[in-house]
Amino acid sequence: MQIIDGKATAAQIKAEIKVEVEEMVARGQRPPHLAAILVGHDGGSETYVKNKVLACEACGFRSTLLRFEDDITEDDLLSQVAMLNADPEVDGFIVQLPLPRHINEQRIIEAIDYRKDVDGFHPINVGRMAIGLPCYISATPKGILELLRRYDIETSGRRCVILGRSNIVGKPMAQLMMQKQYGDSTVIVCHSHSRTLVKECRQADILIAAIGQPAFVRADMVKPGAVVIDVGTTRVPDATRKSGYRLSGDVDYEHVAPLCSYITPVPGGVGPMTICMLMQNTLAAARKTYYSL
Ligand code: GUN
Repeated sequence: MQIIDGKATAAQIKAEIKVEVEEMVARGQRPPHLAAILVGHDGGSETYVKNKVLACEACGFRSTLLRFEDDITEDDLLSQVAMLNADPEVDGFIVQLPLPRHINEQRIIEAIDYRKDVDGFHPINVGRMAIGLPCYISATPKGILELLRRYDIETSGRRCVILGRSNIVGKPMAQLMMQKQYGDSTVIVCHSHSRTLVKECRQADILIAAIGQPAFVRADMVKPGAVVIDVGTTRVPDATRKSGYRLSGDVDYEHVAPLCSYITPVPGGVGPMTICMLMQNTLAAARKTYYSL
């Protein structure tokens, strides 16, 4: 069994990005600039955004964090999005999700200029991704593809089972694993109403768990030799930790890991790659790799 080290892989990719940024700057271009909008004080979102700002520093990017209280109106938030759309100094930006309940998340996502949508959440990017056109690919599925590629894990023609059908992980992951130019796998998507979920998991060569239920994937659901990718990052109370919680994956790691050919740990697997892929998308935005503005 080999542990897929997302932390080390992400550090390596960030170092590669930093070199590219230094070359850009040496040519007289300004460094890439990522902006983030954070609404409210959700603990998870605060951590993600803080880590995104730190990753920008590590890559030599400029970053701007715009913070708002959770009583901001939808119209005011739309105005902020419009300002970032129009700002030529900002290459790409994200609006950290989830947003407060009184704000229509989809309306905000669709207000973002798709050419600056480095999260890859805008329907134009989602649609282009689905038919294999150049676009921003959302960071978590992109990070998983990158881990599979960097660890030389064969995906073509293999059976890939995805647990979860969210817009930001399950659905794009299924699209990408299916496409010839990415996973080229046989893809099965299971969710909370799938009657044959356990049976499907047991037949998976590659099992990608993204359902947000700690230790959902048990040892008896995994085929010996399978590749297991754990996207779960649920905070569970833990009095022995200074923070009062620890992160739990969707996989019962202790019992599943010995069965696998490869497995991602939590933390230190998919998580660090996600932020690193956002950096790659921001570099692509600064270079106008997919779209010109
Ligand atoms: N909330 C959880 N994951 C993400 C992400 O990748 N991007 C944004 N904007 N919000 C999130």
